[in-house]
Amino acid sequence: SDHKPITINQKTYRTDEWFNISPTVLSLTPRKLHLQKDHPVYITRQIIESVFPAPTFKTYNTLDPVVTTHENFDSLGFPPDHPGRAKTDTYYINSETLLRTHTSAHEAALFRAGESPGYLISADVYRRDEIDKSHYPVFHQMEGARVWSRADHGENLATAIWADVEHLPKHDMNVEDPNPAFHAERNPLQERHKEEEAAAVAAHLKKSLELMVYEIFTRVRASHAKTAEKKEKEEPLKVRWVEAYFPFTTPSWELEVFYQGDWLEVLGCGVSQQKILDDAGVPEKIGWAFGIGLERIAMLLFQIPDIRLFWSSDERFLSQFKGVSDDLTKLKPFVPFSKHPACYKDVSFWLGGTTSSAAGGNDRGVQQWHENDLMEIVREVGGDNVEDVVLTDSFQHPKTGKRSLCYRINYRSLERTLRNEEANELHEKVRGLLVERLGVELR
Ligand code: PHE
Repeated sequence: SDHKPITINQKTYRTDEWFNISPTVLSLTPRKLHLQKDHPVYITRQIIESVFPAPTFKTYNTLDPVVTTHENFDSLGFPPDHPGRAKTDTYYINSETLLRTHTSAHEAALFRAGESPGYLISADVYRRDEIDKSHYPVFHQMEGARVWSRADHGENLATAIWADVEHLPKHDMNVEDPNPAFHAERNPLQERHKEEEAAAVAAHLKKSLELMVYEIFTRVRASHAKTAEKKEKEEPLKVRWVEAYFPFTTPSWELEVFYQGDWLEVLGCGVSQQKILDDAGVPEKIGWAFGIGLERIAMLLFQIPDIRLFWSSDERFLSQFKGVSDDLTKLKPFVPFSKHPACYKDVSFWLGGTTSSAAGGNDRGVQQWHENDLMEIVREVGGDNVEDVVLTDSFQHPKTGKRSLCYRINYRSLERTLRNEEANELHEKVRGLLVERLGVELR
């Protein structure tokens, strides 16, 4: 077969029939925006790091994006049939090697290293996804964790953790936390945890993350105040805790912030599953972990309207953040440069096969339709010249049972006006590849 080896960050890997990483995505692996001084992703990382200082938290900012399926999924308790493992959702190098989909892939290794009671990871992560102003196949996450050892505290473990909770700084946010700390079905306590211990860990987790959000949103407000016409009297910041599910924590929560009239989900977190700590060789430890996406926060901090801008080398973008890394009080909103005209092109087609079974029981030879495969083709052809792709029509033919879809692709560059012929050329390529790779029938 023609599976050529590939090299990522100076290391070479064998590929097999699982390989599905486009050249564009591969070309982004060396960028590491979180390490580029004065880049908004770097500045956002700096702000969050300031809330979790050394020596309690050790920072890891250069962990390799190539991990095993074991690290990314199995070690964290993802079941074998979890949808996140699908080729349509994840970038694979080969059947057992992939580009990490989240920073949690490093949890086990860092719990094992155990160099300090806490750690913070910042890294690029990779996901096949839709195309719009807030999704990009590469983005950045921060993971944080903090543990306490039973061996150090014995019967006084809960008391020791509560003492640490007491030492955390205060904030004046309005916090809604309507659910009980544990819920037998929805958000269970772990078998090996005493309720008072897990409750203390949860309290430390919530308080720490509230402080992080307080730090971020206080800066968001200060920055917006610099351009706001008249300063309105500021309401206290409002956040709420929502029950959640992750295979590697229980109980688990998401933290939401009330921002411009909407509840905005900012992070996921929970009490680490004891199984991960056991496997990491530290069964005597108990603790928490969280994960947060940096672009999302950076878009709020700097009022950045389109996620593609982060990858731009346009000085009209980058120059606006110069000097902020060294002096966070210089933080101010991004001033967008003028928008170039949009160029909409539609593509409609019949899907191959007769019916599409959602359960995935596809006939051999008939490819199962997944929208992300279309998105990948559009990204491969159009790169950053596509602003978004939306499904505008979908219906099933009453007699043949065939499904017809229509997508509207918005070709618009952030940096220049695209000529109509250019957009047509890109669109023709997209149409060709849809037929060639996905077996659709153009209408
Ligand atoms: N890894 C999770 C995600 O990407 C976030 C998370 C991290 C949740 C750590 C709980 C604990 O969605």
